[in-house]
Amino acid sequence: MPFTANRTFKSDPLMISGARGNHYILADGREVLDVSAGLWCVNAGHGRREITDAIRSQAETLDFVANFSHGAAPAFELANRLALLAPGDLNHVFFTNSGSEAVDTALKIALACHAARGEGQRQRFVGRQMAYHGVGFGGLSVAGLGGNRKAFGPLLPGVSHLPHTLDHARNACSKGQPEHGIEMADALEAIVAMNDASTIAAVIVEPVAGAGGVLPPPQGYLERLREICDRHGLLLIFDEVITGFGRLGTTFASEYFGVQPDMITCAKGLTNAAVPMGAVIVSDAVHDTILNAATGPGPELAHGYTYSGHPLAAAAGLATLDIHRDDDLNGKARALAPLLEAGVHALADHPVVKDVRNLGVLAAVQMHPREGAPGARSTELRHHCLAEGALIRAGADTVLISPPLTFGADEVTQVIEAMKKGLDRL
Ligand SMILES: Cc1ncc(COP(=O)(O)O)c(C=O)c1O
Repeated sequence: MPFTANRTFKSDPLMISGARGNHYILADGREVLDVSAGLWCVNAGHGRREITDAIRSQAETLDFVANFSHGAAPAFELANRLALLAPGDLNHVFFTNSGSEAVDTALKIALACHAARGEGQRQRFVGRQMAYHGVGFGGLSVAGLGGNRKAFGPLLPGVSHLPHTLDHARNACSKGQPEHGIEMADALEAIVAMNDASTIAAVIVEPVAGAGGVLPPPQGYLERLREICDRHGLLLIFDEVITGFGRLGTTFASEYFGVQPDMITCAKGLTNAAVPMGAVIVSDAVHDTILNAATGPGPELAHGYTYSGHPLAAAAGLATLDIHRDDDLNGKARALAPLLEAGVHALADHPVVKDVRNLGVLAAVQMHPREGAPGARSTELRHHCLAEGALIRAGADTVLISPPLTFGADEVTQVIEAMKKGLDRL
């Protein structure tokens, strides 16, 4: 099973048989709150009829066509809608089947873009410690979670990592973006000085690091990264697989922070997770550079997946974007964010709590590890919360909170009460 302690699972399997709105239905019939929106992806809540109907109707009309040298309307319609929603001149879309594939695609586009500009020696990438960019060899190479990398060899050559931005000494229990740490972006200057800008293709970061433990960027940090990239001709990729589609109350985090990258990777909330799909949204400049440099009749970018722009996924994506617009999910997220912030920070004084972090509809509660049993507390807290009717995601001594954007105030209260009771039992 993916990222699962298989032996533990087999000894006590948690099976889910259904989902409705903000709830999962467990195999034993209990309804529990889905505090993770699936896996940061069911932003509009489960079982949306509009999406199911769109998938069914698309399957009846055109179940599949590979978008290799011919195309079908749903993928083009979705690409056009995404281009309208993406900030600035991010006007071109390449579809993938997952966030991992979107990240690897973006890295390849960065290389292809520099090669097209006659700077093919720009082949290095810069990622960041504690980042998660999926599980492809490219994404794993630029990511910074040691446990995910250690069994898989040296990965891509020529990758440097920025330091992570977690600073308990100065920023513990900050509400929203922490005050300290803008200078951590200057590590990019040091990486440039060490390798020379002419060898570096792109920098990739999650605007808010998610799987690493919900790390909102320090104030001014992303702006400074953008400045340094501009100074040295480096492409900046925002991995918005989690932050895309409303998590921060805007369609993309780049809009929230007012920082425009050269490419955005997205997935998850794009289809409300009803059908797998990812995408890379690229700027006019990147797109035009690659297309204009091409000579001969062959494809300008020798890259693609059988299921790129799959009609069922595209239909699900279009229906999801309709829900975002009609239900004002961004507005709902903006209303939910302060409730979530107040709720999680009410736990900050608990003696086992070390740090509380939040931004938009993303939050994490990090606990002091129990002596001799690191990681045990989050697993136990998850267990206690489940008994109280809330299914929460546990990482290493941290629980991660990213509910559907359709959560109400009462549901936030239920989760926080469950966590309070659970923390008291640790
Ligand atoms: C920021 C980020 N990038 C990429 C991925 C990988 O996405 P997928 O699991 O769809 O391959 C994830 C998944 O959680 C993610 O959080």
